[in-house]
Amino acid sequence: FFDIREPVLRPEDFEAQVRYIEDGLMLLSGGHIVWLGSWQEGEGRLALAQKTAGLEIDDFRDKLIVPGFVDTHIHYPQTEMIGAYGEQLLEWLTRYTFPTEQQYHCADYSKRMSKFFLDQLLLNGTTTALVFGTVHPESVDALFKEAADINMRLVAGKVMMDKNAPDALLETPDESERDTRALIARWHNRQRLSYALTPRFAPTSSPELLQKVRLLKQEFPDVYMHTHLSENVAELSWVKEMHPEHQHYLDVYHQYGLTGERCVFAHCLHLDDSEWDCLHDTDSTIAFCPTSNLFLGSGLFNLQKSWHKQVRVGMGTDVGAGTTFNMLETLSEAYKVGQLQRYRLSAFEAFYHATLGGARALHLDDKIGNFNTGKEADFVVLEPGVSALQKLRATNSKTLAEKLFVLMTLGDDRNVYSTYVDGEQVYARDALQGERPA
Ligand code: GUN
Ligand code: FE
Repeated sequence: FFDIREPVLRPEDFEAQVRYIEDGLMLLSGGHIVWLGSWQEGEGRLALAQKTAGLEIDDFRDKLIVPGFVDTHIHYPQTEMIGAYGEQLLEWLTRYTFPTEQQYHCADYSKRMSKFFLDQLLLNGTTTALVFGTVHPESVDALFKEAADINMRLVAGKVMMDKNAPDALLETPDESERDTRALIARWHNRQRLSYALTPRFAPTSSPELLQKVRLLKQEFPDVYMHTHLSENVAELSWVKEMHPEHQHYLDVYHQYGLTGERCVFAHCLHLDDSEWDCLHDTDSTIAFCPTSNLFLGSGLFNLQKSWHKQVRVGMGTDVGAGTTFNMLETLSEAYKVGQLQRYRLSAFEAFYHATLGGARALHLDDKIGNFNTGKEADFVVLEPGVSALQKLRATNSKTLAEKLFVLMTLGDDRNVYSTYVDGEQVYARDALQGERPA
């Protein structure tokens, strides 16, 4: 994990900043980390805690414990449509996404899919996510309810859209405001939940709708704003046609006050310099979604530029345009996106983006993202060598950097041994006795 309090200025700094304890002990109490150190140094404390509080001990020798992964962009209603064939963004939305999302007017269906979705996050070691629902408030009620049941830290919102989609998925700006307001009242800051205003993207938002989002953001400044930006070149020309008065795509959001802290923009593949500067100056965040960007043929995210411009970046899976819930697989694709642009993504940088970097991108780094005392006890226990190939390769990797790099290159959900949320075990691979969950 990374014990970094100041913003990181250069990717080269991660190697010096990583904290690795070979034989460690972590004490938890009330869902928080209360002590962390080497086993030997901690034995006395453990004995005392056992005597006074009757502690249980979970022994994970030979495993690797890292902070729970943070997914900064994902659509839960698209779980069932991963791997939809043949289209790029705009046709993919029309042909596959919009028909799928129409099912979420039904509360029972939303509940069933919410459970499935959260199980997928947990069995992949993801303990916090920023999530798109559908336009239906029922979709988000169901998801928040399931997350509240395990006291998970989750940020989500219902989609707001009033044009350029089938009628069944459209609302008026007034309805959008009314439903959003009710969801904020019901869920925002309840337990570990936060609300995100979620206009789908510029092409499905009228000026009146964006004005509603602006007023809600002003009224509830600690609510998030979560949308898509500059993903696909056809989308870009469409936005330009629709908003000739705006200087560039980001300007559409910016003019409505939808940039700044807790504003998260998925993709950001085709930004010009002034858009990068605007993201930096407003301290807005980017969700980098490599599997989605490759799957939809959208383009290559420029990680180098995000360092140069000092913009916050988190990792997103963007399921269902993304092809996996798994953060290790996502990091591996991020590495390849880097390779195509001669950027070398180190394992340390990659794991940073998936943990503390993601937490920082969501302004949650005072609560999650590393193992400093006082942090919330969300973590994942990884088993580095599971498959025969991983075991073979492990015999040739010596340094921590190399071991982590092989883990992200060959890893998947089999490497997730156990997941903890709020100090409680919420997933144990071997409890399934070899079966994959339904
Ligand atoms: N842009 C607008 N809506 C979507 C969506 O559902 N997925 C992706 N990847 N991009 C979008
Ligand atoms: Fe998306």
